[in-house]
Amino acid sequence: MNAPVKKAVLPVAGLGTRFLPATKAMAKEMLPIVDKPLIQYAIEEAREAGIEDFALVTGRGKTIMEDHFDHAVELEQVLSERGKTAELEIVHEAMVPPGHMAYARQQKPLGLGHAIWCARQFVAGAPFAVLLPDDLVKAEPGCLSQMMAAYDEVGGNIVAVEDVPREQTNKYGILDVEMDDGRLAKARGLVEKPDPADAPSTLSIIGRYILQPQVFEHLDRHEKGAGGEIQLTDAMAKTLGDVPFHGLRFQGKRFDCGSKSGFIEANVAFALDRHDIGAEVRAALADYFKT
Ligand code: UTP
Repeated sequence: MNAPVKKAVLPVAGLGTRFLPATKAMAKEMLPIVDKPLIQYAIEEAREAGIEDFALVTGRGKTIMEDHFDHAVELEQVLSERGKTAELEIVHEAMVPPGHMAYARQQKPLGLGHAIWCARQFVAGAPFAVLLPDDLVKAEPGCLSQMMAAYDEVGGNIVAVEDVPREQTNKYGILDVEMDDGRLAKARGLVEKPDPADAPSTLSIIGRYILQPQVFEHLDRHEKGAGGEIQLTDAMAKTLGDVPFHGLRFQGKRFDCGSKSGFIEANVAFALDRHDIGAEVRAALADYFKT
């Protein structure tokens, strides 16, 4: 039996420079897809997958997320006085039970690997999940639930993967594949942001991971990789001899909400699916393309 995965780390310390000026005084992870912030989608996906404890790795200007997952006493009082029970329920849905949300400060944005390393006390030797809230996956069951099912089968380290056009390999961590059954790809190597000509495959890692704690043995060394940053991919690659590593081709659609076009596309896709506004948005878009 593989040790159960009950903890998740969500790194949210990035500067979000691609969304300036929106992110000058507000966290990128609070940008809404329709009416719910990105960070809440990630927490909900993790809870659906059985995660009970969360750590957000934050930086300057990110305390807004602590408020988001806490009581909003005055707001709740006003909603309750006005009999707005549906809205009150929405506010309560965003909350995580007391004692199940921890915050670690990254202090300097030295890279994703460094952000994960900042949560090492929280992880405390257990297997754990990592979710990057920028990567929003529309899927049923959720992407992390699909990964948990794969974890029950093969254990070890598991990442969600998708094929990208070869010219884009320099934007992602890429798998060097040893065996591939079309759903699970076993990796013998990993490369962060390889040039298209050197990429060992086009199977790219998206922002969902299940990791064994051995990764910290390598993150502890603070070695810099691509772009001068401490890369998670490099630390995962170093565990390959000790821990099996699989990429799961998840079922669903991933939106890169760290990019403007991905963010807009996600808003359209999620809006079209909503029973309250879907028809209205569809009609407005049809009208828009007519003119
Ligand atoms: P990105 O590469 O999207 O960087 O980080 P960013 O700073 O958030 O955004 P841009 O590129 O300036 O627009 C990917 C994920 O890793 C986290 C980010 O918060 C995001 O979830 N991250 C990255 C950290 O937490 N710390 C870091 O040092 C780097």
